[in-house]
Order: sequence, then C-alpha cells, then structure tokens
Amino acid sequence: MKKTINIDKIHEGLCTKHIGARIIFLHETSSTNDLAKELAFSGSPEGTVVLAEAQTNGRGRLGREWVSPRGGLYFSVILRPRLAASEAAKLVFAAGLAVVEALDELYCLRTETKWPNDVIVNGRKVCGILSEMNMRNGLMDFVVVGFGVNANFDIKKALPEPLWANATSLWTELGRKIELGALFKEVLERLEKLYNSFLKNGSSPVLREWKKHAAFFGEYVEVISGNEYLSGLALDIEDDGSLTIKLDDGKVKHVFAGDVSLRRKSNPMSFK
Ligand code: BTN
Repeated sequence: MKKTINIDKIHEGLCTKHIGARIIFLHETSSTNDLAKELAFSGSPEGTVVLAEAQTNGRGRLGREWVSPRGGLYFSVILRPRLAASEAAKLVFAAGLAVVEALDELYCLRTETKWPNDVIVNGRKVCGILSEMNMRNGLMDFVVVGFGVNANFDIKKALPEPLWANATSLWTELGRKIELGALFKEVLERLEKLYNSFLKNGSSPVLREWKKHAAFFGEYVEVISGNEYLSGLALDIEDDGSLTIKLDDGKVKHVFAGDVSLRRKSNPMSFK
C-alpha cells in the first residue's frame, strides 16, 4: 500500500533543532501517545516523535476513543520541560496554537482554538490534542503531546455517524487532499518555536496569542466538567489555564477540565 507520508522528505526539510530529531514512523500502531510514553519511560530524549499512518486504539481526552483511519495525521511528541505540573499542563495551548498557525500558513485556513485543546473550523473539530505527563520524585519527567488531525478523508465515510455533527476534516474544508508530511513538518517547526518561547518567557505570551483565536468568548456556553453541568457566559481563560464562566445565577466559576459547547438555541430561556 502506498505510504500516506513521505518520511524521507520530512527528514531532509525539517528546520528544527530538537523536536523531530528522531522520528519513529509506523504504518499503524495502537496509539502514538502510548508508544511515546513507553519510549519516554525508557529514556528517549526530548524531541522524539512517534508518527503513524493509522491508529487502532487512538485515545482522546476524558477516556474517549479517537477514531484514526488512514488519511489522518497522528503523532506524539516527547517533551521534558523543567516545569511544575501546573505550568506544563498549559503546553496544550502551545500545541493548539502551532496547529492554528500551520493551517493558516499552509492553506490560509482560518481556524479557532476551543478550550482546552481543540482546533475548530466553522464550528467543527478538525484537530484534537491529548497531553499526558509523568512526574518522577516530585519533578517533571516528561510530557507527551499527541496530535490528531482529521485530514485526507471524508468524515461521513471514515468516521462513525455520532461524530459527524461535531467533526470536520481538512478534505471537507479545503475541498482537496493535502500533503500530510508538509503539515506535520510545519506543526513541528511551529511547536518548537512556541515551546522555546514558553520555556524562556513563561506561558503568558503563548496564552495571550492562543486567546486571539479563541472561540466562544462572550458567548453562552454549556460546560460538562466531570459530573457537573454548568451553563453561562464564557468570559476568559485565566493565567492558570482555567476557563472562567459567569453562571446564570451571576456567580463566576473557574473550570479546569471539561468540554465546552455553544448553548443550544432551542432553549429560549437560555438566552435571557
Ligand atoms: C481529544 O480531542 O480528545 C484529543 C485527541 C487526541 C488524538 C491524538 S491522535 C495522536 C495521539 N495518539 C492518541 O492515542 N491520541 C492522540
């Protein structure tokens, strides 16, 4: 079967110092995050990347499945930042921003960031990011940042029906196939720049930039956070990475993990 990514071309053209210095390219794996974590546990250096043409057990946030057919872009990057866990958790903003910038640069595609770690086009998700970290003796050991981009496939042919309403693909949005290797390379290069800035200047500049692309600020949203259902006005992202919402009873709440969606218009009471 013809490869979906020309890895030799990537090795030749990649302009990064650390990220992608070693790329493990697989036809198929269970989950690039799982393999990257195994490698990180056994000492693989920062910048090692696991890239796969397809995943059989792709994982999303909150224990969900990430359906990963051929034609998508699936990769995970090992980072070893000397940061506290609370800071390292914000690396997802750098990762999301890297994707937003890459899609703009390569295809002039205007995307939005959606808290905490999605990239959306026209209200639908085109990329998800899964960041997992490990501490050792109270210190940061590694962070694995996994990217899943719905790229060269038709959502309705490649993904199960329950996902159609909220997912899109680059193929759908651009009306053509893209070169996966070019997108991979662009994201890695942008990630390295943003990561270096994050380490040097802290998370604020990255977060500020991420917010410029953020969807849903000033909009009425629903948030599912653990067992809690919240609804209110999305106000901001705080320096600690939490989402601030003004609840319907006027209280302000900071949410640290969850899923946000626009409040459905079918409930007119929601818009008072
Ligand atoms: C989400 O939106 O829930 C996050 C999805 C992350 C999917 C990517 S695909 C590459 C990497 N390997 C995985 O198993 N998951 C991430």
